[in-house]
Amino acid sequence: MSIELSTALKRVKPPATAEMSRKARALKAEGRDVIALAAGEPDFDTPDNIKEAAARAMREGKTKYTDVDGIPELKDAVVAKFKRENGLDYTRSQVNVSPGGKTVIFNALMATLDRGDEVVIPSPYWVSYPDIALFCGGTPVFVPTTLECNFKVRPQELAKALTPKTKWLILNSPSNPSGAAYTETELKALAEVLLGFPNVHILTDDMYEHLTYGDFKFTTIAQAEPKLYARTLTMNGVSKAYAMTGWRIGYAAGPEKVIKAMAGVMGQTTSCASSIAQWAAVEALNGPQDFIPKNKLVFQGRRDLVVSMLNQAKGISCPTPEGAFYVYPSIAALIGKTTPNGNKIVNDEAFASELLEAEGVAIVHGEAFGLGPCFRVSYAASNAELEDACARIQRFCGSLR
Ligand SMILES: Cc1ncc(COP(=O)(O)O)c(C=O)c1O
Repeated sequence: MSIELSTALKRVKPPATAEMSRKARALKAEGRDVIALAAGEPDFDTPDNIKEAAARAMREGKTKYTDVDGIPELKDAVVAKFKRENGLDYTRSQVNVSPGGKTVIFNALMATLDRGDEVVIPSPYWVSYPDIALFCGGTPVFVPTTLECNFKVRPQELAKALTPKTKWLILNSPSNPSGAAYTETELKALAEVLLGFPNVHILTDDMYEHLTYGDFKFTTIAQAEPKLYARTLTMNGVSKAYAMTGWRIGYAAGPEKVIKAMAGVMGQTTSCASSIAQWAAVEALNGPQDFIPKNKLVFQGRRDLVVSMLNQAKGISCPTPEGAFYVYPSIAALIGKTTPNGNKIVNDEAFASELLEAEGVAIVHGEAFGLGPCFRVSYAASNAELEDACARIQRFCGSLR
């Protein structure tokens, strides 16, 4: 008899983003000409000074278990980062370092959720939030946003979603999948609502902090409203800003009680993040930062290219997001249309699979992020690939009747 899987695992599904990347790779392996715009990682390599710091750590024998929730040197670098870039004061004992940002979120929710606790998540959301909440026994509560509001949650909608059972609100700015980022004024308005709910904690996922464009000024909620500092977990990581997705280092700072409890989860799971990657992250945070503005400019050019070309596609409406490396166009005008093969575009999932089939462009459908009919394009790809992909999307949309 085969083993019965756990109830906790049965509650979750694999991320749709990974599934689309897998499909794209499989088609490529069959020899199909596929452009994959489904993955959420920078196409740049990790800067050399960071790689060298890792090599040095290995040469110096820094290859053993470390303190459970991070080496003191990395905690100090995180404290300095929050002070320098966000004006936030933390001490070492308020910092957690985990193997990747995803694990930071998992550790925080695992450490604090009991059955029936609600986690409020504006949609569209990063695919993992609801599943991590479910995995940890919590109940996700979604707050849908609209394209007209640039996919940002408004105070009155947030107020309606909060209940005495709400334990966490998860904010993500700039957002994966929409690229939308909250201004300081918008955060203050949300904070105003949260001040009326003193039992709600806020987990802010600032993973894309360094990828905002034009004049946009990044702000995080504990900075926008210092009265929320004591109940905010400010989460970030090196994955996106320093092109270090494979190194697996994420971090957070917040209330000592939560941080200590997260270490409790790690003590019986991962033990610690990789010692070598932690030393690399020290260099990423303390070393030269010139990599970041250079990348930002490249991404901004790509965003402008993709937004402009998608808006020229028949039936697509694509807002200009403030940050991250995603756009999230609506295909509401294309629902119900038919492909030249006679297949109906019944929803955004059908759009994604017909587009992959007809033109070999892999994107992720909006329902996977909890809000359709839309799709997500990751523009972490070369300009040539992006131009080609957008031209194919234009041709596909033009072929629908
Ligand atoms: C919004 C958001 N948060 C967290 C993560 C996880 O980052 P990491 O790769 O460090 O686990 C991602 C990765 O895609 C993300 O998009």
